[in-house]
Amino acid sequence: MPEPLLEVRDLVKHFPLPRTLLDAALRRPQETVRAVDGVSFRLSRGKTLGLVGESGCGKSTLGRCILRLYEADEGEVRFGGVDLMRLDERELVPFRTRMQVVFQDPYASLNPRQAVGHTLLEVLDVHEIGAPGERRERMAHLLTQVGLSPGDAHKYPGEFSGGQRQRIGIARALAVEPELLIADEPLSALDVSIQAQILQLLLDLRTSLGLTMLFISHDLRVVRYLCDEVAVMYLGRIVERAATEDLFANPRHPYTIALLSAVPEVWSRPRDEIPIEGEPPSAMRIPRGCRFHPRCPWKVERCLAESPALERVRPDHEVACHVATARPAAGLPEAPAARPETAPEG
Ligand SMILES: Nc1ncnc2c1ncn2[C@@H]1O[C@H](COP(=O)(O)OP(=O)(O)OP(=O)(O)O)[C@@H](O)[C@H]1O
Ligand SMILES: [Mg+2]
Repeated sequence: MPEPLLEVRDLVKHFPLPRTLLDAALRRPQETVRAVDGVSFRLSRGKTLGLVGESGCGKSTLGRCILRLYEADEGEVRFGGVDLMRLDERELVPFRTRMQVVFQDPYASLNPRQAVGHTLLEVLDVHEIGAPGERRERMAHLLTQVGLSPGDAHKYPGEFSGGQRQRIGIARALAVEPELLIADEPLSALDVSIQAQILQLLLDLRTSLGLTMLFISHDLRVVRYLCDEVAVMYLGRIVERAATEDLFANPRHPYTIALLSAVPEVWSRPRDEIPIEGEPPSAMRIPRGCRFHPRCPWKVERCLAESPALERVRPDHEVACHVATARPAAGLPEAPAARPETAPEG
């Protein structure tokens, strides 16, 4: 197997919550949000991995840890074989151009008082991309590449529509000629018709530039269309990962099935639906055993005590579920007659 461009191993990022004086007086224990709680995956060059899961499951935190916008507590982030977590700021500089990010709301990250051409030129200057005399031309080319016109260089962010601003966000990310693009909900602030245009732009750029992408999204339809593989995250862990077609055709984890069966456009087996039960989970109170068990219709005793690891069930398909991995085929288990109680949090 060729070396992946990106490999994440056992990554952990917890946020300790600030303690009030009352907490201290009552000697309450320090509370911690376990946003990313042991994530591992590999992403090959030129591939796009979709990262899906409910709000708050840790997708953005994972993306930020990879970029070292957040410092992870534990684990490894290997980029081109180099563990980024071990690098100091100076050693990180070259990697800061090799990886770029596009956020949901590009407006928040564009300087409203600067013409967009100026913003792009600044990026080219700071990172010394191309010869100084060529940079205006490069800037104009970037605008064209994302479907804007070189004449737009004089405009300010406020003069563009949401979709156009997202194009500028993408142009800025591309300015440094990155190898990896992390796109964190890049479409969710846009109208549906504009979403389709930006999605097409990302597809075109991936092909023409050979970009590797981590695509974070709530939208399973978009993920199915764009991504080569999909990882499903639940409460800080990946619970299932597979090639896109396989994941949509043969989901194995009950949480994946619940997610998919909530979207009729991607679900063709109405009789196998799993309605998602219970409250959305809190990353402060992660249940012991399998973290999905309080909402799981399949749970057995073992799920209350033992956290399942990701196990390979097909050549390119891994799942973390005691019940699903015990079954040889893609058949879905019956709900057990008597359900065990829920274990306390651990
Ligand atoms: N800087 C922070 N300080 C404290 N807690 C944080 C911080 N950033 C994120 N969290 C918490 O970590 C958990 C994961 O958040 P994250 O933003 O990564 O989720 P997400 O999957 O991206 O959600 P969404 O789909 O809503 O964007 C949440 O419980 C969130 O409240
Ligand atoms: Mg997020």
